[in-house]
Amino acid sequence: MNIHVLNSYEKMSQYAAHMIEAQMQKKHDSVLGLATGGTPEGLYKELIRRFQEGRVDFKEAETFNLDEYIGLGQAHPQSYSYYMWSRFFSHVNIDRTRIYLPFSKSAEDTDALAEYDIQLQEVGGIDLQLLGIGQNGHIGFNEPGSFLRADTHYVDLSLETVEANARFFSTEEDVPKQAITMGMAPILQARSILLLASGKTKARAVKEMLQSAISPQHPASFLQLHSSVDLVLDAEAAMELP
Ligand code: F6R
Repeated sequence: MNIHVLNSYEKMSQYAAHMIEAQMQKKHDSVLGLATGGTPEGLYKELIRRFQEGRVDFKEAETFNLDEYIGLGQAHPQSYSYYMWSRFFSHVNIDRTRIYLPFSKSAEDTDALAEYDIQLQEVGGIDLQLLGIGQNGHIGFNEPGSFLRADTHYVDLSLETVEANARFFSTEEDVPKQAITMGMAPILQARSILLLASGKTKARAVKEMLQSAISPQHPASFLQLHSSVDLVLDAEAAMELP
């Protein structure tokens, strides 16, 4: 893995934006796998700035988001769909027919899951997958456990994830306990991966991703198998690395 340690969150966001800009210049119709959460907020702001300056064009891009809560509805301000529209899609020239978001009203709706995987296959997979990392080492919402799944699936969020995400809700009770997530296959089949981590709460997960045995107990450890991963870290997230 290529490790880039930057000395601030702003620098990290700029570095990551530069990598996405380069990807879009290299391939105008890139398929981008996108993440939400606190970490990429600065990156999306930076991409919007670069779009406004005419440096990057998303007209031909296709996007697939990693995950979505179950039960919130797409118009809910904490849904990942709302996040993407308000923080990125509405501000750039992306074609809305090329935006794919995993969404399902209920955990019984298995057709929606299979359809998402078919859509991913039809576009030929992901060119660049953007990832964050959970404090417990999850990628997407592929949570640590005794096994991991390859396909898009429903997941019961771990207590650690619910606690970490409570900062975006009024109370912990309001945090959805279930989500829909892309599985490990499209992530690991992405032609390149860009993972961002910021802050000392991520330091242990970053260390385990790089140094632990590859195991479903550490979902991000599977990235050790991928030949093109760029880790963009701030100094705090990198502080447990040698
Ligand atoms: C979000 C996602 C998650 C987050 C992770 C880190 O789409 O897939 O894996 O990347 O939970 O979240 P933040 O950035 O809020 O610390």
